[in-house]
Amino acid sequence: MIFGPTLLCIILFVTTPFAWASSVPLVPGRYFDRVVIFVFENENYANVHADPYFGSLASTHNVELTNYYATTHPSQPNYISMITGSTDGVFFDFNSNIDGDSIVDLLEAKGISWKSYQQAYPGNCDTSSSIGTYYRKHNPFISMTNIQSNATRCANIVNADQLDADIRNKLVPQFVFFTPDINNDGHNTNLTVASNWFQSYLEPRIKLDNFTENTMFISTWDEAEDYVGPNQVQTVLFGPSFHLTPSLTDSSNNRYDHYSILKTIEENWDLGSLGENDVGAVPFSF
Ligand SMILES: *[C@@H]1O[C@H](CO)[C@@H](O)[C@H](O)[C@H]1NC(C)=O
Ligand SMILES: *[C@@H]1O[C@H](CO)[C@@H](O)[C@H](O)[C@H]1NC(C)=O
Ligand SMILES: *[C@@H]1O[C@H](CO)[C@@H](O)[C@H](O)[C@H]1NC(C)=O
Repeated sequence: MIFGPTLLCIILFVTTPFAWASSVPLVPGRYFDRVVIFVFENENYANVHADPYFGSLASTHNVELTNYYATTHPSQPNYISMITGSTDGVFFDFNSNIDGDSIVDLLEAKGISWKSYQQAYPGNCDTSSSIGTYYRKHNPFISMTNIQSNATRCANIVNADQLDADIRNKLVPQFVFFTPDINNDGHNTNLTVASNWFQSYLEPRIKLDNFTENTMFISTWDEAEDYVGPNQVQTVLFGPSFHLTPSLTDSSNNRYDHYSILKTIEENWDLGSLGENDVGAVPFSF
């Protein structure tokens, strides 16, 4: 009998340091402790809103932003703007190398972990413009010179298959930017393919606490399909433990854009700003 508590003490003493060592240190945020962003390709708001899966994402504890706009056309400057607050003079989808800061610099300054999960990406800091179904124009991180020239930072751009191991090991970082490949994001396929892929990918994983705890998920589109028009895209904020206040539900028709995501993340962790369009952007109203 007398060995019971002693043994328990020994077990606790021995096991807890390892448990801490295996998980990512968490910097608590004002509204959420993790953000997971999924970006899809080239579809008008109305079509996505009418899609059975994307349209249903907003049906429970979450909100569809019904007045949300992309930055420009074509793809690449939208992705660049989402992480830097500016298109940085990028007009096309050709390889770009950008000197300057991104959200990564603000996150790292506060000790907040980040990763970009890119489907079909080979890793190892690869800067090719495309490899199979991977396309660099949809991976803005590799275009930042202070990431591509730094092996430590580059190592945070991983093949998306890594996510399952990170969930299993409770190592999902606090900032996650997920780019499906050129087929699953709808670019070379269509909305139905993207919708079916997202449903099959997300549904089993959104049940896992290691992935969803205090997490705000964002599903958005880089740009509308129509070049002539308001460039309105569907953006949904959701997640089983992402608790909305009535003010957000009421204000879902506020005008937002890609810079709103940056601004919200900056406010969530008191990151300061990049001094670009993030400064004047409208954060999500929680
Ligand atoms: C590379 O990035 C890491 C992580 O941000 C940073 O600690 C290190 O100082 C960087 N190295 C260089 C040479 O900038
Ligand atoms: C969550 O993380 C813990 C710690 O690594 C692990 O033991 C558990 O199996 C993970 N859960 C799932 C469903 O992967
Ligand atoms: C979308 O693509 C799939 C697979 O190629 C095809 O079966 C389906 O008919 C397409 N849907 C539309 C609306 O074009």
